[in-house]
Amino acid sequence: MKKIIIGNWKLNLEHLEAIQLLQKLNYSLEVNIEDNIDIVIAPSYTSLRSLQTIIDADNLKIKISSQDVSAFIEGAYTGEVSALQLSKLNITHSIIGHSERRTVFNETDETINLKVHNAVNNNIIPIVCFGESEEQRDTNEYLSYILNQVNIAVKGLRKDKVEEIIFAYEPIWAIGTGKVASVENAIEVISSVKQEISTKPFYDEEKIRFIYGGSVSPTNASELLNTKIIDGALVGGASLDVDKFVQIIKSVKL
Ligand code: 13P
Repeated sequence: MKKIIIGNWKLNLEHLEAIQLLQKLNYSLEVNIEDNIDIVIAPSYTSLRSLQTIIDADNLKIKISSQDVSAFIEGAYTGEVSALQLSKLNITHSIIGHSERRTVFNETDETINLKVHNAVNNNIIPIVCFGESEEQRDTNEYLSYILNQVNIAVKGLRKDKVEEIIFAYEPIWAIGTGKVASVENAIEVISSVKQEISTKPFYDEEKIRFIYGGSVSPTNASELLNTKIIDGALVGGASLDVDKFVQIIKSVKL
């Protein structure tokens, strides 16, 4: 499976800084690396149009994701950005259900399911995040919690649409903490989710990508990314530093 490295820029960079970061990233990447590794960046909404214009004009193969999408289609929902609006900007991916949205903005599994539907209905690939908190890990109920998150996220979706999703395991205790999950932790969770998905008779889990996020850095990337079951990484802090992000990309053995 082709690996994918996604940089989640979170609430950082105004659009001029975002343009600079994209340009620096593009110059720092090996030519045509995207033929072997998918590279996606997720800037703030305010930068999407500028970055997309550069990507189109310069024929770059870096793809752009939004960090969220509305659960609504259109109408009186002040402040929301719809999947249709994003797809008209040629945005190819949307991060959905990030733990920061779940915990800070109280997003429920049901809201996340609506967002996933809206994304796929507009040909946007959802990057569906799931993962347990430190307390849940300590009570050993984390696997059932995670499987429930995933099951609700994909509820009501057609087989071919589920197979397009990128599932991102992001344990909350590993996000921005420097505490990375061990490869064994990540494999245990991803294998369980794969198994769960394959019990739905019609999903072919071999087609679906499962990635890891949480304190991914140049130091730990090689071990995580060269594991067969982990198809890529969702990188936060280190994606804002081009040198680190490129080192993470380079640690994928082709
Ligand atoms: P960090 O890489 O900063 O831990 O963030 C991970 C993350 O939340 C990516 O979505």
